[in-house]
Amino acid sequence: MSIILGIESSCDETSAALCIDGKICTNIIANQTVHEKFGGVVPELASRAHQQNIIPTVGQAIREAKVHKNDIDAVAFTRGPGLLGSLLVGTSFAKAFALARNIPLIDVNHMQAHILAHFIEEPFPGFPFLCLTVSGGHTQLVLVKDYFQMELIGQTLDDAAGEAFDKTAKILGLPYPGGPLIDRYAQLGDAEAFAFPEPQIPGLNFSFSGLKTSILYFVQKKEAEYPGFIQDHLNDICASVQARIVSILINKLKRAAKETGVRYIAVAGGVSANSGLRAAVTKLGEEQGWQVFIPRFEYCTDNAAMIAIAGHYKYIARDFVGQDVAPLARYNL
Ligand code: KG4
Ligand code: ZN
Repeated sequence: MSIILGIESSCDETSAALCIDGKICTNIIANQTVHEKFGGVVPELASRAHQQNIIPTVGQAIREAKVHKNDIDAVAFTRGPGLLGSLLVGTSFAKAFALARNIPLIDVNHMQAHILAHFIEEPFPGFPFLCLTVSGGHTQLVLVKDYFQMELIGQTLDDAAGEAFDKTAKILGLPYPGGPLIDRYAQLGDAEAFAFPEPQIPGLNFSFSGLKTSILYFVQKKEAEYPGFIQDHLNDICASVQARIVSILINKLKRAAKETGVRYIAVAGGVSANSGLRAAVTKLGEEQGWQVFIPRFEYCTDNAAMIAIAGHYKYIARDFVGQDVAPLARYNL
Protein backbone atom coordinates (compact mmCIF):
# COMPACT_ATOMS: atom_id res chain seq x y z
CA MET A 1 0.00 0.00 0.00
CA SER A 2 1.45 3.37 -0.97
CA ILE A 3 0.10 6.89 -1.32
CA ILE A 4 2.17 9.19 -3.53
CA LEU A 5 1.64 12.93 -3.94
CA GLY A 6 2.74 14.17 -7.38
CA ILE A 7 3.57 17.82 -8.13
CA GLU A 8 4.00 19.36 -11.61
CA SER A 9 5.17 22.95 -12.21
CA SER A 10 7.50 22.84 -15.22
CA CYS A 11 5.70 25.36 -17.45
CA ASP A 12 2.33 27.09 -17.15
CA GLU A 13 0.24 24.48 -15.33
CA THR A 14 0.31 24.01 -11.58
CA SER A 15 -0.89 20.50 -10.88
CA ALA A 16 -1.14 18.07 -7.97
CA ALA A 17 -2.27 14.44 -8.02
CA LEU A 18 -2.65 11.56 -5.61
CA CYS A 19 -1.75 8.01 -6.59
CA ILE A 20 -2.91 5.21 -4.29
CA ASP A 21 -1.37 1.81 -5.06
CA GLY A 22 -0.76 2.73 -8.68
CA LYS A 23 -4.26 4.19 -9.22
CA ILE A 24 -4.71 7.92 -9.79
CA CYS A 25 -7.53 9.22 -7.62
CA THR A 26 -7.20 12.99 -8.08
CA ASN A 27 -5.49 15.14 -10.70
CA ILE A 28 -6.05 18.85 -10.08
CA ILE A 29 -4.76 21.27 -12.73
CA ALA A 30 -4.67 25.06 -12.31
CA ASN A 31 -4.25 26.62 -15.75
CA GLN A 32 -2.56 29.98 -16.06
CA THR A 33 -4.45 32.36 -18.32
CA VAL A 34 -2.15 35.32 -17.64
CA HIS A 35 0.02 34.45 -20.69
CA GLU A 36 -2.71 34.66 -23.33
CA LYS A 37 -2.28 38.33 -24.10
CA PHE A 38 1.49 37.94 -24.51
CA GLY A 39 1.27 35.24 -27.18
CA GLY A 40 3.45 32.81 -25.17
CA VAL A 41 4.47 31.84 -21.66
CA VAL A 42 6.18 34.66 -19.76
CA PRO A 43 8.55 32.84 -17.35
CA GLU A 44 8.43 35.38 -14.53
CA LEU A 45 4.62 35.48 -14.59
CA ALA A 46 4.52 31.68 -14.65
CA SER A 47 6.64 31.41 -11.46
CA ARG A 48 4.46 33.94 -9.67
CA ALA A 49 1.27 32.10 -10.66
CA HIS A 50 2.76 28.77 -9.46
CA GLN A 51 3.59 30.45 -6.16
CA GLN A 52 -0.07 31.48 -5.77
CA ASN A 53 -1.54 28.19 -6.98
CA ILE A 54 0.64 25.53 -5.42
CA ILE A 55 -0.84 25.38 -1.90
CA PRO A 56 -4.53 25.53 -2.93
CA THR A 57 -3.92 22.99 -5.71
CA VAL A 58 -2.19 20.48 -3.43
CA GLY A 59 -4.83 21.11 -0.74
CA GLN A 60 -7.65 20.36 -3.19
CA ALA A 61 -5.95 17.21 -4.49
CA ILE A 62 -5.50 15.83 -0.96
CA ARG A 63 -9.05 16.74 0.06
CA GLU A 64 -10.68 15.25 -3.02
CA ALA A 65 -8.66 12.06 -2.70
CA LYS A 66 -10.08 11.74 0.83
CA VAL A 67 -6.69 10.91 2.29
CA HIS A 68 -5.07 12.52 5.29
CA LYS A 69 -1.80 14.29 4.64
CA ASN A 70 -0.18 12.22 7.40
CA ASP A 71 -0.87 9.08 5.34
CA ILE A 72 1.11 10.21 2.27
CA ASP A 73 4.16 7.93 1.86
CA ALA A 74 6.26 9.95 -0.59
CA VAL A 75 6.22 13.13 -2.65
CA ALA A 76 7.23 13.10 -6.32
CA PHE A 77 7.96 16.32 -8.21
CA THR A 78 9.02 17.45 -11.69
CA ARG A 79 12.75 18.17 -11.52
CA GLY A 80 13.02 19.21 -15.18
CA PRO A 81 13.20 19.97 -18.02
CA GLY A 82 11.28 23.23 -17.94
CA LEU A 83 11.38 26.86 -16.85
CA LEU A 84 13.75 27.12 -13.91
CA GLY A 85 11.70 29.64 -11.92
CA SER A 86 8.60 27.47 -12.34
CA LEU A 87 10.40 24.25 -11.47
CA LEU A 88 11.79 25.91 -8.33
CA VAL A 89 8.30 26.47 -6.94
CA GLY A 90 7.28 22.79 -7.23
CA THR A 91 10.69 21.54 -6.13
CA SER A 92 10.79 23.78 -3.05
CA PHE A 93 7.25 22.83 -2.11
CA ALA A 94 7.99 19.10 -2.49
CA LYS A 95 11.22 19.37 -0.47
CA ALA A 96 9.47 21.24 2.35
CA PHE A 97 6.57 18.77 2.35
CA ALA A 98 8.92 15.76 2.49
CA LEU A 99 11.05 17.35 5.21
CA ALA A 100 8.10 18.34 7.37
CA ARG A 101 6.47 14.90 7.13
CA ASN A 102 9.75 12.97 7.13
CA ILE A 103 8.86 11.03 3.96
CA PRO A 104 10.94 10.18 0.87
CA LEU A 105 11.38 12.68 -1.95
CA ILE A 106 11.25 11.42 -5.57
CA ASP A 107 12.54 13.42 -8.54
CA VAL A 108 10.81 12.90 -11.88
CA ASN A 109 11.92 13.74 -15.41
CA HIS A 110 8.98 15.48 -17.10
CA MET A 111 9.61 13.82 -20.48
CA GLN A 112 9.77 10.36 -18.90
CA ALA A 113 6.55 11.19 -17.06
CA HIS A 114 4.74 12.05 -20.32
CA ILE A 115 5.65 8.54 -21.49
CA LEU A 116 4.74 6.90 -18.18
CA ALA A 117 1.27 8.49 -18.47
CA HIS A 118 0.54 5.31 -20.44
CA PHE A 119 0.56 3.43 -17.13
CA ILE A 120 -2.27 5.46 -15.60
CA GLU A 121 -5.07 3.56 -17.33
CA GLU A 122 -5.15 0.12 -18.91
CA PRO A 123 -4.38 -1.25 -21.43
CA PHE A 124 -0.69 -0.66 -20.63
CA PRO A 125 1.88 -1.04 -23.43
CA GLY A 126 4.30 -3.96 -23.15
CA PHE A 127 8.08 -3.37 -23.24
CA PRO A 128 9.75 -2.47 -25.46
CA PHE A 129 7.43 0.11 -26.98
CA LEU A 130 8.06 3.05 -29.23
CA CYS A 131 6.81 6.45 -28.05
CA LEU A 132 6.39 9.61 -30.08
CA THR A 133 6.48 12.37 -27.46
CA VAL A 134 5.20 15.66 -28.85
CA SER A 135 4.88 18.69 -26.61
CA GLY A 136 5.38 22.44 -26.62
CA GLY A 137 9.11 22.12 -25.99
CA HIS A 138 10.01 18.65 -27.32
CA THR A 139 9.53 16.27 -30.22
CA GLN A 140 11.11 12.91 -29.48
CA LEU A 141 11.04 9.34 -30.72
CA VAL A 142 11.86 7.14 -27.76
CA LEU A 143 12.50 3.41 -27.51
CA VAL A 144 11.09 2.55 -24.08
CA LYS A 145 12.78 -0.61 -22.78
CA ASP A 146 11.57 -0.37 -19.18
CA TYR A 147 9.92 2.20 -16.89
CA PHE A 148 13.09 4.24 -16.56
CA GLN A 149 15.20 2.79 -19.35
CA MET A 150 14.53 4.96 -22.35
CA GLU A 151 16.61 5.50 -25.48
CA LEU A 152 16.21 8.66 -27.54
CA ILE A 153 16.33 7.58 -31.21
CA GLY A 154 15.10 10.77 -32.90
CA GLN A 155 14.34 14.38 -32.02
CA THR A 156 13.67 17.78 -33.53
CA LEU A 157 16.63 19.77 -34.81
CA ASP A 158 14.83 23.09 -34.24
CA ASP A 159 11.20 23.80 -33.22
CA ALA A 160 9.02 21.29 -31.40
CA ALA A 161 5.73 20.09 -32.94
CA GLY A 162 3.74 22.06 -30.35
CA GLU A 163 5.78 25.14 -31.20
CA ALA A 164 4.93 24.63 -34.87
CA PHE A 165 1.24 24.69 -33.93
CA ASP A 166 1.62 27.66 -31.57
CA LYS A 167 3.77 29.75 -33.93
CA THR A 168 1.41 29.08 -36.83
CA ALA A 169 -1.46 30.23 -34.64
CA LYS A 170 0.44 33.40 -33.84
CA ILE A 171 1.02 34.06 -37.57
CA LEU A 172 -2.72 33.59 -38.09
CA GLY A 173 -3.50 36.05 -35.30
CA LEU A 174 -4.86 33.42 -32.89
CA PRO A 175 -4.18 33.58 -29.13
CA TYR A 176 -1.76 31.35 -27.16
CA PRO A 177 -1.74 28.37 -26.91
CA GLY A 178 -2.80 27.99 -30.51
CA GLY A 179 -2.55 24.19 -30.86
CA PRO A 180 -6.05 23.40 -29.58
CA LEU A 181 -7.55 26.24 -31.69
CA ILE A 182 -5.87 25.06 -34.89
CA ASP A 183 -7.22 21.60 -34.11
CA ARG A 184 -10.74 22.99 -33.75
CA TYR A 185 -10.67 25.05 -36.98
CA ALA A 186 -8.95 22.22 -38.87
CA GLN A 187 -11.94 19.97 -38.25
CA LEU A 188 -14.05 22.40 -40.31
CA GLY A 189 -11.58 22.81 -43.18
CA ASP A 190 -10.16 21.05 -46.22
CA ALA A 191 -6.72 19.57 -45.53
CA GLU A 192 -5.89 19.54 -49.24
CA ALA A 193 -6.71 23.21 -49.83
CA PHE A 194 -3.06 24.35 -49.54
CA ALA A 195 0.19 22.40 -49.88
CA PHE A 196 2.94 23.14 -47.37
CA PRO A 197 6.35 21.51 -47.85
CA GLU A 198 7.56 18.42 -46.04
CA PRO A 199 11.22 18.85 -44.96
CA GLN A 200 13.70 16.22 -46.11
CA ILE A 201 15.54 15.41 -42.89
CA PRO A 202 17.60 12.22 -42.87
CA GLY A 203 17.08 9.46 -40.29
CA LEU A 204 14.63 9.78 -37.44
CA ASN A 205 15.08 13.48 -36.68
CA PHE A 206 12.50 16.19 -37.30
CA SER A 207 12.51 19.83 -38.39
CA PHE A 208 9.66 22.32 -38.22
CA SER A 209 11.31 25.71 -38.70
CA GLY A 210 11.13 25.58 -42.52
CA LEU A 211 7.42 24.86 -42.36
CA LYS A 212 6.89 27.84 -40.06
CA THR A 213 8.73 30.13 -42.50
CA SER A 214 6.78 28.83 -45.49
CA ILE A 215 3.49 29.47 -43.67
CA LEU A 216 4.62 33.01 -42.81
CA TYR A 217 5.55 33.79 -46.45
CA PHE A 218 2.35 32.18 -47.72
CA VAL A 219 0.19 34.26 -45.40
CA GLN A 220 2.06 37.51 -46.13
CA LYS A 221 1.79 36.98 -49.90
CA LYS A 222 -1.90 36.05 -49.82
CA GLU A 223 -2.83 38.92 -47.49
CA ALA A 224 -0.99 41.40 -49.75
CA GLU A 225 -2.93 40.12 -52.78
CA TYR A 226 -6.23 39.80 -51.02
CA PRO A 227 -6.68 41.49 -47.63
CA GLY A 228 -8.83 39.35 -45.35
CA PHE A 229 -7.53 36.12 -46.91
CA ILE A 230 -6.66 34.53 -43.55
CA GLN A 231 -10.06 35.28 -42.09
CA ASP A 232 -11.87 33.92 -45.15
CA HIS A 233 -9.76 30.75 -45.37
CA LEU A 234 -8.90 30.13 -41.72
CA ASN A 235 -10.40 26.64 -41.54
CA ASP A 236 -8.67 25.47 -44.72
CA ILE A 237 -5.30 26.96 -43.68
CA CYS A 238 -5.53 25.29 -40.26
CA ALA A 239 -6.55 21.96 -41.81
CA SER A 240 -3.68 22.09 -44.33
CA VAL A 241 -1.05 23.07 -41.73
CA GLN A 242 -2.24 20.43 -39.30
CA ALA A 243 -2.20 17.76 -42.00
CA ARG A 244 1.42 18.63 -42.81
CA ILE A 245 2.59 18.61 -39.17
CA VAL A 246 0.83 15.27 -38.70
CA SER A 247 2.35 13.78 -41.86
CA ILE A 248 5.86 14.82 -40.77
CA LEU A 249 5.31 13.07 -37.42
CA ILE A 250 3.63 9.99 -38.87
CA ASN A 251 6.24 9.37 -41.54
CA LYS A 252 9.06 9.32 -38.97
CA LEU A 253 7.04 7.13 -36.64
CA LYS A 254 6.50 4.66 -39.46
CA ARG A 255 10.20 4.65 -40.22
CA ALA A 256 11.13 4.17 -36.54
CA ALA A 257 8.75 1.23 -36.25
CA LYS A 258 10.26 -0.31 -39.36
CA GLU A 259 13.86 0.19 -38.20
CA THR A 260 13.32 -1.10 -34.66
CA GLY A 261 10.76 -3.81 -35.48
CA VAL A 262 8.71 -2.67 -32.46
CA ARG A 263 4.93 -3.02 -32.84
CA TYR A 264 3.68 -1.41 -29.64
CA ILE A 265 3.33 2.24 -30.61
CA ALA A 266 2.51 5.04 -28.17
CA VAL A 267 1.95 8.78 -28.46
CA ALA A 268 2.45 11.20 -25.56
CA GLY A 269 2.70 14.91 -24.71
CA GLY A 270 0.39 17.87 -25.30
CA VAL A 271 0.22 17.50 -29.09
CA SER A 272 -1.07 13.92 -28.71
CA ALA A 273 -4.35 15.64 -27.77
CA ASN A 274 -4.58 16.67 -31.45
CA SER A 275 -7.52 14.98 -33.18
CA GLY A 276 -5.73 14.76 -36.54
CA LEU A 277 -2.68 13.07 -35.00
CA ARG A 278 -4.80 10.66 -32.96
CA ALA A 279 -6.80 9.65 -36.04
CA ALA A 280 -3.68 9.30 -38.21
CA VAL A 281 -1.81 7.14 -35.69
CA THR A 282 -4.87 4.95 -35.16
CA LYS A 283 -5.35 4.50 -38.92
CA LEU A 284 -1.68 3.77 -39.54
CA GLY A 285 -1.73 1.30 -36.65
CA GLU A 286 -4.56 -0.62 -38.33
CA GLU A 287 -2.69 -0.66 -41.65
CA GLN A 288 0.61 -1.72 -40.11
CA GLY A 289 -0.75 -4.17 -37.53
CA TRP A 290 0.54 -2.14 -34.58
CA GLN A 291 -1.03 -1.99 -31.17
CA VAL A 292 -1.53 1.75 -30.61
CA PHE A 293 -1.66 3.49 -27.22
CA ILE A 294 -2.93 7.06 -26.79
CA PRO A 295 -3.64 8.48 -23.31
CA ARG A 296 -6.89 10.17 -22.40
CA PHE A 297 -6.85 13.95 -23.19
CA GLU A 298 -6.26 15.06 -19.60
CA TYR A 299 -3.15 12.87 -19.38
CA CYS A 300 -1.69 14.19 -22.68
CA THR A 301 -1.14 17.83 -21.72
CA ASP A 302 0.83 18.73 -18.58
CA ASN A 303 -0.57 17.14 -15.44
CA ALA A 304 0.60 15.80 -12.08
CA ALA A 305 -1.03 12.38 -12.53
CA MET A 306 1.88 11.40 -14.78
CA ILE A 307 4.34 12.66 -12.14
CA ALA A 308 2.56 10.66 -9.42
CA ILE A 309 2.54 7.48 -11.53
CA ALA A 310 6.26 7.88 -12.28
CA GLY A 311 6.69 8.43 -8.53
CA HIS A 312 4.80 5.21 -7.86
CA TYR A 313 7.25 3.16 -9.95
CA LYS A 314 10.27 4.92 -8.40
CA TYR A 315 8.80 4.31 -4.94
CA ILE A 316 8.63 0.57 -5.68
CA ALA A 317 12.30 0.74 -6.76
CA ARG A 318 13.17 2.80 -3.63
CA ASP A 319 14.71 5.40 -5.93
CA PHE A 320 14.76 8.53 -3.74
CA VAL A 321 16.68 11.82 -3.68
CA GLY A 322 18.00 13.95 -0.81
CA GLN A 323 17.18 17.51 0.24
CA ASP A 324 20.14 18.79 -1.77
CA VAL A 325 18.36 18.02 -5.08
CA ALA A 326 18.08 21.00 -7.46
CA PRO A 327 15.77 21.48 -10.45
CA LEU A 328 17.21 21.26 -13.96
CA ALA A 329 16.04 23.45 -16.86
CA ARG A 330 17.64 20.91 -19.20
CA TYR A 331 17.33 17.27 -18.28
CA ASN A 332 17.98 14.38 -20.66
CA LEU A 333 15.79 11.31 -20.69
O1 KG4 B 1 2.88 18.66 -22.93
P1 KG4 B 1 2.39 20.04 -22.91
O2 KG4 B 1 1.10 20.33 -22.16
O3 KG4 B 1 3.45 21.03 -22.32
C1 KG4 B 1 4.83 20.88 -22.55
O4 KG4 B 1 5.44 20.07 -21.87
O5 KG4 B 1 5.27 21.58 -23.48
O6 KG4 B 1 2.23 20.51 -24.43
C2 KG4 B 1 1.77 21.79 -24.75
C3 KG4 B 1 1.68 21.88 -26.26
C4 KG4 B 1 1.36 23.29 -26.74
O7 KG4 B 1 2.25 23.61 -27.80
C5 KG4 B 1 -0.07 23.17 -27.26
O8 KG4 B 1 -0.39 24.07 -28.30
C6 KG4 B 1 -0.07 21.75 -27.74
O9 KG4 B 1 0.65 21.02 -26.76
N1 KG4 B 1 -1.43 21.19 -27.86
C7 KG4 B 1 -2.01 20.89 -29.05
C8 KG4 B 1 -3.31 20.43 -28.75
N2 KG4 B 1 -3.49 20.48 -27.39
C9 KG4 B 1 -2.32 20.95 -26.87
N3 KG4 B 1 -1.53 20.95 -30.30
C10 KG4 B 1 -2.34 20.57 -31.29
N4 KG4 B 1 -3.60 20.14 -31.09
C11 KG4 B 1 -4.14 20.05 -29.86
N5 KG4 B 1 -5.37 19.60 -29.68
ZN1 ZN C 1 4.83 18.57 -20.96
